[in-house]
Amino acid sequence: MSMAAENLTSSAPSTAPAPAPKLDRAAIAAIVASGKRLLVQGGMGIHASDGLAGKVAAARSRRFVGVGTISAVIKTPEHLRAEIQRAKATAPGGFVGVNLMAAINKADFELSARTALDEGVSFLVQGAGISRDIIRWCRDAGTPFAGIVSSGRLAAMYEKWGAEWVVAEGAEAGGHIGDIGHPLPTLVEEVCAATSLPVVAAGGVHASDLGRYFAQGAAGVQLATRFIASSDGDAHPTFKQVHLGKKAEDVAIITSCVKGMKARAVRSPFTDGLAAGKSYPPRSKAWYFGPSGYMGRKKACIECLAEGLCKCRASNFQESFCITDALLRAVAQGDEVQGLYYTGQSLVRLPETKVGELRSVQAIVDDMDVALDAQDGALREAALG
Ligand SMILES: Cc1cc2nc3c(=O)[nH]c(=O)nc-3n(C[C@H](O)[C@H](O)[C@H](O)COP(=O)(O)O)c2cc1C
Repeated sequence: MSMAAENLTSSAPSTAPAPAPKLDRAAIAAIVASGKRLLVQGGMGIHASDGLAGKVAAARSRRFVGVGTISAVIKTPEHLRAEIQRAKATAPGGFVGVNLMAAINKADFELSARTALDEGVSFLVQGAGISRDIIRWCRDAGTPFAGIVSSGRLAAMYEKWGAEWVVAEGAEAGGHIGDIGHPLPTLVEEVCAATSLPVVAAGGVHASDLGRYFAQGAAGVQLATRFIASSDGDAHPTFKQVHLGKKAEDVAIITSCVKGMKARAVRSPFTDGLAAGKSYPPRSKAWYFGPSGYMGRKKACIECLAEGLCKCRASNFQESFCITDALLRAVAQGDEVQGLYYTGQSLVRLPETKVGELRSVQAIVDDMDVALDAQDGALREAALG
C-alpha cells in the first residue's frame, strides 16, 4: 500500500476539534484596516496541495496574513480530517479552510463538507460548479462560506446568497478554467464593482503584480502554482520539476472530462495524446487506494464526478479520460507519460529551474513582503485618488 493510501485509514474522527479562527467578512475588514492583505494558497485537487495549507497559514509576514486551503477532492473523511488537523497543528490559530468542487460526486461532496465543518475550519470555498446547499450547511454550522467566481454577476449572486468573500479567478489560473476566461485585471475590476464583499484576486498573480490588484480594491491574492514550486508540500518531486524552466509553448489547454471544461496543463505526452484524439479509460486504482477501493468503490471508475458530468463515463469509457487516474499519476507517482500536470499560466514566471533550488513557503512569502514594499507607491496613489 502506498504511504498516501496508508494515511487514508490512519486518523480516527476527532471528538473535540479546536476550531480555527473564522475567516469572515469582519475578520478580513480588520486585516485590511490594519494595513495587511490576505495571501491565500489556492486549494489544488487530487492531493496537489497536500502539506501546504499549514505552512502558508503559519508564515510570518509584515504585509500579509497567510491563509491555507486544503482540497477535499478524492479524500476520504479520515484523510480530510488528518490533513485539516495537520495544518492546524502546523499553524495554531492560523486560517485554514477547505476547497470543495460542486462538480464532484454529490454524496462525497456533502460528506466532505460536513467533515470539514465538524473539524472547525476557518471557511469553506466552492469552485467548479455551484451548490446552494453548501451555503446552508455553512450557515447552520456558523462557518464562513466563500465562492470562486469568474464574473461580477456570480459575485453579486453569491453576496445575495450569504457568502462572506469571493475569489475572482481569472483565465490565467491553473486546472479547470471554464470556457470563457476573463483576464484577471479586468475580472478584478468587474467583480469589485459588482459586490461589496471582500475580493481575493487569483490566477497568474506574480509578486510584481500585488500592488496593482490591491490598488484595484482586492483584499488579498490567491496563488497556487507558485506554491507548487516550493520545497514544502507533498507533491512528487517530478510533479514539481515538470513545472520548472517552462515557456509559454510548454502550456496546453485541454478539454477535460469534467463537463468538457477547458483546463490548463503542462504540455506532456498525455496532453499530446488527448490533442490527437486518444482516449484514456479508467484503470484500477488499487495501487493508490488499496483493495477496499475509494469509499468502498472498487471498480476502475470510482464515480468521482457528479452524475452526468463525466464525459468519459457518459461515453461508456470510449472517449476523453479518467481524471483521477491522470492527476493521481502525476501528483503521487510523478509519471511523465500517463500523468496529467495541471498548472497555472504563472509557471512561466517561476525563477527556479531545478527541484534542488526550490525554497520554503516562508522564503516565498518573504519575497512577497519585499515585492509589496517596492510597490507601495501604487497603493498610496490609489488611496489618494
Ligand atoms: C494543480 C492545480 C490543481 C487545482 N485544483 C483546484 C481545485 O481542485 N479546486 C479549485 O477551486 N481550484 C483549483 N486550482 C486553482 C487554484 O486553486 C488557484 O485558484 C489558481 O491556480 C491560481 O492561479 P495560479 O496557479 O496562477 O497562482 C488548481 C490549480 C492547480 C495548478
